[in-house]
Amino acid sequence: MSRQIRLLQLLDWDSPHQNASLRQELTAGLLQPKARIAPKFFYDSLGSRLFEAITELPEYYPTRTEGAIFIEHMPAIRQALGEDFTLVDLGCGNCGKAGRLFHAGTLPARYVAVDISVDFLRESLQHLKRELPEIEMIGVGTDFTHELQLPDDLPLERRMFFYPGSSIGNFSPAEAGRFLRQLTGRMDASGGLLIGIDLIKDTALLNAAYDDELGVTAAFNRNLLRHVNTRLDADFSIGDWRHVAFFNAAEARIEMHLEARRAVDASWPDDTGHCHRHFTAGERIHTENSYKYSPDSFRELLRDAGFSDIRMWTDPRAWFALFFARQTPTLT
Ligand code: AVJ
Repeated sequence: MSRQIRLLQLLDWDSPHQNASLRQELTAGLLQPKARIAPKFFYDSLGSRLFEAITELPEYYPTRTEGAIFIEHMPAIRQALGEDFTLVDLGCGNCGKAGRLFHAGTLPARYVAVDISVDFLRESLQHLKRELPEIEMIGVGTDFTHELQLPDDLPLERRMFFYPGSSIGNFSPAEAGRFLRQLTGRMDASGGLLIGIDLIKDTALLNAAYDDELGVTAAFNRNLLRHVNTRLDADFSIGDWRHVAFFNAAEARIEMHLEARRAVDASWPDDTGHCHRHFTAGERIHTENSYKYSPDSFRELLRDAGFSDIRMWTDPRAWFALFFARQTPTLT
């Protein structure tokens, strides 16, 4: 039994090569006719903490609804996961959800915590390791939106991928399908996927969850520009930008944007010299999509991606769903 966690830092802003490609990704998005920044850039250390605060807001129902589903259906969930498994937590954040699972007695042999927010991940995992020293713990600091890299020596048997909170909603349905397909290739028949999905519901409830009274989600959204300023050495003035969030029913997604309160100019250096973007008053930067599903539409996405044995648990109001599925056996 070790008191140490193992940390694999695949994402490293201090690596010149990675730094250049992340900066290029940011620059390319900002220079599009419709400017955008990928939601993974929300999560610097402050962004991770602001998201933690979001999960405690009265309007933000997903975290607590999912938590209630866990408590209500823990015996069935525990049975689905089985024993002696490796829990691979995708976007573990503060590791709180996995921690609650463990404290409820659903214990893996090994816990692999994956997150883009590397410093936050290290702190959270060290904290959890002190509480549960009997579990082997590995942290993987990585951006898994392009490709999910796992430790080379991670056993293939009984890998249970844990993707709670409806984080898959940041992918478009097509991207989500490709991501799920990738997961089937990272497990065998003894593995599985436990995934949380936010369900389509009343628009007013959805809108409130992403535009809370206290303004925490607004701060989370606007913090993105602070992070971008740091990473790009850019000069966005946060006060010029307003938080906008709404449910786009045609696309079944929440959209978040930052809207320029007045005409704004932003500039930052890059390898060719210097980049500049002018925004007219009212112009927006698209910062996040958060797709919502119906139980049937998500079941179909899972099936099409190569999953079967699909089980679903939901809350009494059917606001949120937890799915468990296994890789579809292929005939050889
Ligand atoms: C972390 C992607 C699940 O979409 O609900 C919360 C992020 N953004 N409030 C979500 C988020 C604004 C969250 N996910």
